[in-house]
Amino acid sequence: MGKFTKVEPSYISKDGCRLVWEGIDEDDSDVVVLNKKELDTLTEILSKNSTGQVELEDEFSAILINTDIVQFRLKDGKYLEVKTGVLTKAVLEYRKIPHSPKPIKIYPKEFLPSIQIEKDDSKDQLTTVLKKTQKGIPQSDLFRVMSTRRSTRNFDSSRMVEQWQIDKILAAADTAPTAGNFQGFEVFYVKNKEIKKRLVEAANNQPYVNAPVVLVFCTDPSRVKINFPSEILAKFSLQDATLAAAYSQLAASALGLSTIWIGMLDEEKVKQILQTTLRPSSILCIGHPQKARGPKSRRKLKDLVRVIE
Ligand SMILES: Cc1cc2nc3c(=O)[nH]c(=O)nc-3n(C[C@H](O)[C@H](O)[C@H](O)COP(=O)(O)O)c2cc1C
Repeated sequence: MGKFTKVEPSYISKDGCRLVWEGIDEDDSDVVVLNKKELDTLTEILSKNSTGQVELEDEFSAILINTDIVQFRLKDGKYLEVKTGVLTKAVLEYRKIPHSPKPIKIYPKEFLPSIQIEKDDSKDQLTTVLKKTQKGIPQSDLFRVMSTRRSTRNFDSSRMVEQWQIDKILAAADTAPTAGNFQGFEVFYVKNKEIKKRLVEAANNQPYVNAPVVLVFCTDPSRVKINFPSEILAKFSLQDATLAAAYSQLAASALGLSTIWIGMLDEEKVKQILQTTLRPSSILCIGHPQKARGPKSRRKLKDLVRVIE
């Protein structure tokens, strides 16, 4: 277990805070994010030199404050500890002055695949990226990919996802069908480490959102030029973004990578972090799994399908 190091402002809210345990290198840290109510309760207990418990909003995690030690029981089964005196000093110091989240100005850039393409034709580009195979990596059979895919929440951060793989995953998103072929979605390919950490907070503090590759699929109903009511266009673009993410998820599996689909996110927070007005539908986190695992079971087809004759 790392050493408790600091209390710092939350990335996305001025009222909460982050409690940080530092590991060996910069990326190797454990963080507990508290909202205003949780921080207020913790401060009250610590300032009275009392003991008690703070339940965190995810309904699984809790902070147990004892006279000598404070234990953080987290939802993934992890425990963190800090001496009560150390935490009391850090929290009370932190609360002396008001804090606000540090904004980061982001400048999204155009994505250029790593593959050289002669003609500037989007169809040619897509075909080239999808057809290009790396020596030694066979083309995949779709049904094998489907039947072996398994989500992961434990990525092997020591193994890089290569650029040609990311090209293919992104190109796969572009092959998905879209309403009227208007492609009512956009993808944010997040490389920035700070932004990834902020997305963790915006996704109910799910730590695996800080993954080797992070793609945020957003809806863009303004692209869907069909004369239908706005709620229909919103639905179409949500379906477009969802299908695109599913195609990328399968492509990642075909490349021997694993993913976790994140639907539990605070849309407003994600919009604020990405500085966009587009509604995020899902975050697809991709990387090499720490452990290859077989697929989860499903119900029987007879229970899934209703036949109408
Ligand atoms: C719409 C949707 C939302 C999901 N949201 C989350 C999420 O917020 N956090 C998470 O850890 N997993 C999330 N998942 C992943 C599912 O838990 C996972 O796909 C499911 O347990 C089936 O496992 P499998 O993908 O290995 O077959 C989501 C999946 C879908 C399709």
